[in-house]
Amino acid sequence: MKPNSPVGLSIEHESGKLHVTGQARYIDDIPLPQGSLYAAVGQTSIARGELISIDLTSVRAAPGVVDLLTFADLPALKDVGPIFPGDPLLVDIQVLFHGQALFVVIAKTEMQARRAALLAEVEYREEEPILTLAQARSAQARVRPSHELLRGDPDAVLSTAQRVITGSVRIGGQEHVYLEGQASVVMPNEDGSLLVHCSTQHPSEVQKLVAEVCGLDFNQVCVEVRRMGGGFGGKESQAAAWACLAAVAAQRCGQTVKLRLPRAQDMMLTGKRHPFEASYQVAVTDGGKIEAVNAVLDGDCGCSPDLSDAIVDRAMFHFDNAYDLPNARILGERWRTDKVSNTAFRGFGGPQGMLAGEAMMQQLARELNLDPLDLRLRNLYPESGSTTPYHQQVEGGQLQSMMARLEQSADYRNRRQAVTAHNSTNPRHLKGLALTPVKFGISFTGKHLNQAGVLLHIYTDGSVLVSQAGTEMGQGLYTKVSQIVAAVLGISLDQVKMSSTRTDKVPNTSPTAASSGADLNGMAARNAALTLRERLIDHLVQRHTIDADSVHFNDGVVSWSGGEQSFAGLVQQAYMARISLSATGFYKTPEIGYDRKQAKGQPFYYFALGVSCSEVEVDRLTGMTQVTRADILHDAGMSLNPGIDLGQIEGGYVQGLGWLTTEELCWADDGRLLTNSPATYKIPAVSDRPTDLRIELLQEPNSAATIYSSKAVGEPPLMLAISAWCAIEDAIASVAGYQRRVELQAPATPEAVVTALTRLGSGE
Ligand code: MTE
Ligand code: MOS
Repeated sequence: MKPNSPVGLSIEHESGKLHVTGQARYIDDIPLPQGSLYAAVGQTSIARGELISIDLTSVRAAPGVVDLLTFADLPALKDVGPIFPGDPLLVDIQVLFHGQALFVVIAKTEMQARRAALLAEVEYREEEPILTLAQARSAQARVRPSHELLRGDPDAVLSTAQRVITGSVRIGGQEHVYLEGQASVVMPNEDGSLLVHCSTQHPSEVQKLVAEVCGLDFNQVCVEVRRMGGGFGGKESQAAAWACLAAVAAQRCGQTVKLRLPRAQDMMLTGKRHPFEASYQVAVTDGGKIEAVNAVLDGDCGCSPDLSDAIVDRAMFHFDNAYDLPNARILGERWRTDKVSNTAFRGFGGPQGMLAGEAMMQQLARELNLDPLDLRLRNLYPESGSTTPYHQQVEGGQLQSMMARLEQSADYRNRRQAVTAHNSTNPRHLKGLALTPVKFGISFTGKHLNQAGVLLHIYTDGSVLVSQAGTEMGQGLYTKVSQIVAAVLGISLDQVKMSSTRTDKVPNTSPTAASSGADLNGMAARNAALTLRERLIDHLVQRHTIDADSVHFNDGVVSWSGGEQSFAGLVQQAYMARISLSATGFYKTPEIGYDRKQAKGQPFYYFALGVSCSEVEVDRLTGMTQVTRADILHDAGMSLNPGIDLGQIEGGYVQGLGWLTTEELCWADDGRLLTNSPATYKIPAVSDRPTDLRIELLQEPNSAATIYSSKAVGEPPLMLAISAWCAIEDAIASVAGYQRRVELQAPATPEAVVTALTRLGSGE
C-alpha cells in the first residue's frame, strides 16, 4: 500500500458529525413541495379469514381527506412478493395476518390521514389463525418446500451408535427497531415519471416494483437513497410495499406523497427475524467427538415466501458453525403461519442455525460431563481435508488458532475454576462462562446477486464524485468506498464525495445485504478508479514519453521519473486533451456456485470468523442476567477501517445480546402482535452493554482475493452474542453440578431463566 493511503485507517464515518448533530437528512426530513399529500394505512382487525364488506364512507368524509385506495384501485401489479408471489399490497378477499394493510387514505396532513384511517367499517368472516410452529406442522402448512443437506451416512451411524443424544431448542424472532422507520416520498415529474425517495436497502427492487405496480417502464422510475437510519435486513424487501402505495397515490393525485409508517404500525406491518424450533439426534463418543447428526430446522416464515427460501437455507448452512460433522443430515422446513411475513435480519437465518448447533454443544457437554470448551475444541474443523454438510471445503487452521488465542487472552481456564468455585458458595447469584466460535459464510447464496457497479466522475478541479450500487445504513459503506477511491487515485479524502445511491446512476443493483457491501462495491469502485488512472497514465506517457510503470499517484501528486504534477493539474490537462474523465466499474465474485438440486457446491467465497468469551451473572430468584465481561477476537481480514469495524462488532454483539436475552415477540391468541412498541418490546439499553468489553481485530489478510485483503464485517458479529446465551446456560447448569441438560429457550428472558432453573429441579 502507498505511504499515505487512507485504507486501513480509522477514518471517521462520512456522516458522523451530521448524525450526532441531528443534521443528517432522513426521508422524513426532506423538504416537500407545496401541495404535497400524506398517506396512511388502514389495517385489518383479524388475522385470518375473508373480507365480506368494507364501508369507507366515514373515511372519505373525514377532514382533509383527498383520496382513497383499495385493492381494486391498484392499476397494474398488485403483489410485491420479491421472489415468489404472496405479498398483496392490500387485502383483496383473504386476510393473511392481523393488522394487514387494507386500504390507504391520502390527506392534506399526516395527522388527518392517520385519523381517517381508523374510521373504516369492515365485516369479516373470521377463521381460527395458525400462529405457532406446532399448529403449522400439524396443518402441514408450508410457504415453500423443504430442503435437505446430506453429508456421509448419518442414518447408518446413528442406528449403530453406542450413545445417541436427542434434544431441541426454541429460538425467538426479533424486531429490527431501525431508528428510522419505513418511509417513502414519491415525487411525480411533468412526464408522469416518478422520483422515489425511499429508506431501502434495495433501490433497484423498489424501482422495479414501483414501475410494475404503476404500469410504468423501469426507466420512468428513479429511486434515491442517501442513507437509512438503520436497516438490519428490515429494509431489504420490506420497504417496497410502502413506496409502491405512495407511488400509486402520487400518480393518482399528481402530487408528491409521503408515506411514513408510525412505529406501532411499522412493527405490525413489516416482517421480523424468523423464529425457529430446532431438534437433533447426535451420535457422540464418550470423549465428545460427534460422529453423526440428524437435525431438523423448522422456520416460522409467517404468511408468505418473501425471502424465506434463502433464509432457511442459510440457517441450514450454519448449523455446523465451526464443527466437523462427518455424517450429517440437515432438514430445513419453511412453515406458514398467519402472521406478518418474516424476513431478512442481520445474519439472514444464519444466527438461528448457529444457535441451534451451539445449544446442541452445550447439551452434549452436560450429558458427557465435559467442559463445553473442550467439547468444542474436539470437534472444530481440522486444518484441511474436511467439508461442510453442503460439501464446501473448509480449512480450520485459522479458527483453531483464534480459539486458542482467545482461550489464553481471556484467561478462560482460570476463570472457569473461579466461576465454579463462586457458584459452590453463592446460592443466589450464579456465574456462567462460555467461549464460542463464529464461522459465517460470505456471499449471497443467490449467485446472480454477487455483482456491483460504480460510476466515477473526476471534475476538472480534481474533485471526484462516486455513485455506487450499495446503500448506507450506518455500517460505513460510503466511508470505506471513499477510502478505496482516494487510495487508488492517490488523493485526499476531502477530494472524494460520495453521491447518494440512485438507480439512474448505477442500474440493476443488488440489495446492500449479506455483508457484501464493501466487498462488492469496494472492488467495483477500485475497478472504476483504476480505469481512470490508466487513462491519466496513458496521457502522461504520450505527453512526456515516459515509462508507465514509473508513474505514481500519492498525496494529491502524480510523479514519474523526471517530473511531477498535481493531480488536479493533470486532470485539467487531460480534459484539454479531450480524455473522458468518467468511468464505470464492475465486479462479480469469482468461484462461487451452489447446486441446490444436489445440495452441493460452494455458496460462499470465504468465511468470516470470530470468537467470543462471555461471562454472565444470573440472579437465581429473579432470572435477571447481566454480561459482566466479554472478550472478542474478530476477523475482518485486513480491516479497511478498524474504527468502523470495531463499531460493527460492538453493535453486532449488543444487537445479538438483545435477540438472545431481552427481546421477546408476543402475539395474542387472535394473532395480534402485543409487543408493538418500545414500551413492550425491550431492546438493549446502554446498561446492558457488558460492563467490561474487550474487542480485538485479528488483522490477518483474507486468503481469498478481496478488496485490500479485507473481510466482510456487517453481520457476523451478531453471532458473537451466542457465547452470552451459552454462559447463561452454564450458570443455570451449575445448580445441577454441570451434569444435566438445561432446557433453556431463546431469548433467555428472566422468565425463561427461572423456568429452566425450575425444570432442573432447583427452583423449589
Ligand atoms: N450497521 C448499522 N449501523 N446499521 C445497519 O442497518 N445492517 C447490518 C450490517 N450492519 C446494519 C449494520 C446488515 S443486516 C448487513 S447485511 C450489513 O450491515 C450491510 O452492509 P455491508 O454489506 O456494507 O456490511
Ligand atoms: Mo442483512 S440481513 O443481509 O440485510
